[in-house]
Amino acid sequence: MNRLPWLSLILVLSGCAGSQQSVVDAAGQQSGRIATLWWFFFWLLLTIFAAVMAVLGMALMRRPGKEEAEQIETRREPSAAKSDRIRRVVWLASSATVVILLGLIVMSVATGKSMSEYGHTKAGLTIDVQGNQWWWYVRYLNDEAQQIVVTANEIHIPVGRPVMIRGTSNDVIHSFWVPDLHGKRDMIPSRVNTEWIEADRPGRYRGQCAEFCGLQHAHMAMWVVAESPEDFKKWFDRQLQPAAAPTDPHLLKGQQVFLNSQCVFCHNITGTMASGQVAPDLTHFGSRLSIAAGTLPNNKGNLAGWIADPQNIKPGNHMAQVPVKSEDLEPLVDYLESLK
Ligand code: CUA
Repeated sequence: MNRLPWLSLILVLSGCAGSQQSVVDAAGQQSGRIATLWWFFFWLLLTIFAAVMAVLGMALMRRPGKEEAEQIETRREPSAAKSDRIRRVVWLASSATVVILLGLIVMSVATGKSMSEYGHTKAGLTIDVQGNQWWWYVRYLNDEAQQIVVTANEIHIPVGRPVMIRGTSNDVIHSFWVPDLHGKRDMIPSRVNTEWIEADRPGRYRGQCAEFCGLQHAHMAMWVVAESPEDFKKWFDRQLQPAAAPTDPHLLKGQQVFLNSQCVFCHNITGTMASGQVAPDLTHFGSRLSIAAGTLPNNKGNLAGWIADPQNIKPGNHMAQVPVKSEDLEPLVDYLESLK
């Protein structure tokens, strides 16, 4: 027996069960609208498919009557009454198809409209998200410069509050997509596309780039962490602080290694001399869930491997290979992980 179809089915169904990234497991009202539309399409089209298959099956199984067999045999045209009946059925089926398609278009447009209007009337947060090959720049906007938070590859949002994402790109076209919260939205250079997201329940929702953007498109992921307003405030206030100062000679050595290397030309660590602006901000790097835009969990082993040979882990990425002496690697890793 050929097991391939069954294996494929199991793989496809296991994809549905993933609670961290799923279109039909809506975590908020915006994605809820998409999920409702999705299920409506699914059941309606499944019903139509089943009906068409049933009619086809009946037609195939049916034996022609004596008169009909004779007509086919002699290649005569069917009688006028029968032609009329056939024509009526074809007309009816075609009209029903057009009406159903128009109905689906109207539903689709209405869903899009209500989603784009959502949030406008409520006080929300505004976050700039900029796509880069292959990571996400994240900035929480505020009228006061001291209240602006800059981070990368991880977006924290408070539960129950609408958040406007202002998406753009620094190089090629990317697409911002967190399936549990919203549909895809293209990020286009020199253009700002906005969308409103809102999470109704706390959780970690995985997002990914949904527009092919080069070699490491598949490794351009991010995390959206939805938490209670109190936890969000705690996180936000900590992000506003400058980086933690080294508390012992080991971490101090790590900091010196960082500040004396080329790292500082690309990365920023607020509170130190490192002020590069072309790579992810590392001020609170140790508090993040992943490294290299969702490629690896953030832990010491992965970070050491990443620093030692970034091109091996994510070929083509723009992080330079910085020569670090073997005795310097551990202090450097520990220092970066201490930046909570
Ligand atoms: Cu960025 Cu695909």
